[in-house]
This record gives sequence, C-alpha cells and structure tokens, in this order.
Amino acid sequence: MQHILGIDVGASGIKGAVVDVKSGKLQGERFRVPTPQPSTPKAMAGAFSEIVEYFNYKGPVGCGFPSIVKNGVANSAANIDKSWVGTNIEKVFGEASGCPVFATNDADAAGVAEMHHGMGQGENGLVLLITIGTGLGSALFYKGELIPNTELGHLLWKHGKSAEAWCSSGARSRLKISRSEWADRFNEYLNHLELLFSPDLFILGGGESKFFEQYKHQLKTQARVVPAKLLNNAGIIGAASYAEVMK
Ligand code: BGC
Repeated sequence: MQHILGIDVGASGIKGAVVDVKSGKLQGERFRVPTPQPSTPKAMAGAFSEIVEYFNYKGPVGCGFPSIVKNGVANSAANIDKSWVGTNIEKVFGEASGCPVFATNDADAAGVAEMHHGMGQGENGLVLLITIGTGLGSALFYKGELIPNTELGHLLWKHGKSAEAWCSSGARSRLKISRSEWADRFNEYLNHLELLFSPDLFILGGGESKFFEQYKHQLKTQARVVPAKLLNNAGIIGAASYAEVMK
C-alpha cells in the first residue's frame, strides 16, 4: 500500500494528508482542524475522525501524537488534557474513525520523515531534530536509528521549569517576547543540548522552522543547524510511514 493517511495531532491543530510513503510526498492538500479545548480523548477522537472522513479514507492511519507513546498508549500529557495519560490512542482513535490507527510520538514521526526524505538523508552520525511549536519535541538518531521518546523539551531548565516553558513557540507568545529574544534563548538551549549529546547535525522542525532565515545568525553551535526540509509536513509524512511499517 503506497498511499496512507498521516495525521499529526498537535496541541493547537490536528492536520492530515494522504502521503505517498515511497516518495514521502503529500498527495494533494492537507486538511486541518483546530484542536478541541479541552483536548479530552473523546473530543480529540471527534476531530481525528473528521479528518479521516474529509479524505473519505479507509485503511491504516498513522498518527503523530504530542506525548510519550509506548505501545499505542500516551504516557504523558504536557500540552493536552491530562486525562490522556494511560489512554490507548490507537484504540480511542481507531474506534472513532473505524480505521486501524498506529500512533507514535509526533517529533519522532517528524524525525523519521526528515531522515528518509529530508535534511537527514545520508547523515550517518548523531542527528537531533527539535520541533518548535506549542511544546518542544525531540527525535534522536544515531547511524540513522531512532532512539524513541527522548523528550528533550522537558529538560529541567532555569528556575526548575522545563526548557519548553522557556523557549518553545508557545512560550514566546505566552511571555510576549520578540523572535530575536526568543532566538537567543533557543541558542542557549541548543548549546546545552550540544554539551550533552555532541550531535553532528541539528534539524529544526515545527511551526517556527518557517522563520529560520530570520534567526539563523543567532544560532551559534559547532554542529550544523538546518531547518527541516519538509517543514511542518514532516509530522504527517512520518506518521504515514509509521503506519506503513506497523500495519
Ligand atoms: C511533549 C512531547 C512532544 C512535544 C511536541 C512536548 O510537550 O512532551 O511528547 O513531542 O511536546 O509536541
């Protein structure tokens, strides 16, 4: 099966598209619905099904989800309703949509897509992808192999808060700081990650990667830093590839 629906569930929007998993290209437009608030499993399942119905799709669905995901179960809920913790994502979305659903962490999904079809192609060292959105997501690769659920957005940072509370896109709008001030903060975060992991390459994904040209001169690491080639579609593409492997 070459065309699979990938759905990237985020804290502010849920986006889907049919993906050609061989080429990693979207087959047509993507469709987005705002994440319901509160983002309970029931409400999110409704939004998820709306996307499946929009594409009039039957078959396996890949789902990138903004939490630790183990065996289809959400093990954390930083920016979504806390009732997700312990909930089987695949079961809840699968029953609502009538399709088999395969769920993985959203940043891991984006990372896999970038490694296969984007900036990670041919990179054989240590690659760290950071998605910058409502939260900070991470995907760590060594010799092309994913080490899943790394959660580096939750490194304890200044004043005992998580790094994502300090330098995600969500933090930037909440704290009303300029993009330039945000970039200085993000540079400090990248430098700390560099000290811990010595990556060869950082790939920046998520919504903020679109503005890379505006702040790239503020990022000063030894490792190369590049924006994700698939930009904000990486999560959708990686989710579809995950379903292709797991179905
Ligand atoms: C979550 C991660 C997720 C990231 C991006 C973080 O708050 O803990 O699991 O990958 O946000 O959505």
